[in-house]
Amino acid sequence: MGYSIKKLKPAKQRANPECAERAAYSLTDLLHATNPYQDFDHTTYPNDLSGWGSDSPAFENLIAQATSLDLIIEVGTWKGGSAITMANALSKHGKNAQILCIDTWLGALEFWQNHQDPERYQSLQLKHGYPSVYYQFLANVCHAGHQKRIIPFPQTSATAALFLRTHGIQSQLIYIDGSHEEEDVYQDLLDYWPILAKGGIIFGDDYTWDGVRLAVTRFAKEQHLKITFEADKWLLTKK
Ligand SMILES: C[S@@+](CC[C@H](N)C(=O)[O-])C[C@H]1O[C@@H](n2cnc3c(N)ncnc32)[C@H](O)[C@@H]1O
Repeated sequence: MGYSIKKLKPAKQRANPECAERAAYSLTDLLHATNPYQDFDHTTYPNDLSGWGSDSPAFENLIAQATSLDLIIEVGTWKGGSAITMANALSKHGKNAQILCIDTWLGALEFWQNHQDPERYQSLQLKHGYPSVYYQFLANVCHAGHQKRIIPFPQTSATAALFLRTHGIQSQLIYIDGSHEEEDVYQDLLDYWPILAKGGIIFGDDYTWDGVRLAVTRFAKEQHLKITFEADKWLLTKK
C-alpha cells in the first residue's frame, strides 16, 4: 500500500487548521519514538558549522517580519549552519517556533564528484562507505543548545513532504536548500508549495546555480508568482 498525491488532495482540503497546529507542536513525538538527542554525547565532536549561505541576514529578516510562525521547514540542512542561524534568530526575537530539518544526510550530486573536496566529499565522513555527517549536525545543534527547537527528519525531501501532507502539517516559512539539480528543485517546489500556509514564504539559496534558477523561474511562471529577493535568497510568497 502506498500514498498518492492525487488521493491526498481531498484529505488536504478537509484538513482542520486546528489539527495542523496541534500536529506541528507534537512533531517530535510524531516522528521520533525516542528523542534523537537522548544519550547522544556531542562532546566528542567539534563545533563545526561549515556550510553555504548559512549565516545570511535573510534568515533573521524573514523571521523578524513573520507575523505568525510556529513551524519552519528546512529542506537541506547538512551540518545545521542555516538551521542554527534560524534558531538563534527565533530566540532573539522571542518566537517559539520549531524548525524541522529534512535531509538524507547523504549529500547531493556535487558532494560525490571529487574525493579531494574537503567541504563536500570528505565532510560526508564516510564510515565503511556510508556517510555519518548526520552526527556532526546533531552535535552542532547540541553545542548551540537548540535541541528543543530543531527536529531532525532524516528522509528524502519527497517522502518527507508526503509525511507532512498525510498529517495535514503546514508551515509559514520553508527553506529549500537540498539538491540543486533543476528537476529536483522543481519537484521540491511542487511538493512543498501545498505545505506552505497562506501568506507564507518559500525561499532558497544559490539562485546563481543554473539548476536552481531554471526551476524557480519555471515554477514561478507556471504559478503566476513574482520572484523577489532578501539578501542572497530568492523568495516566493503565497497570497
Ligand atoms: C547545500 S547542502 C545544505 C546546506 C545547509 N543549508 C547549510 O546551511 O549549510 C544540501 C543538503 O541537501 C541534502 N539533500 C540533497 N538532496 C536531497 C533530497 N532529495 N532529500 C533530502 N536531502 C537532500 C544533502 O544531503 C545536503 O546535506
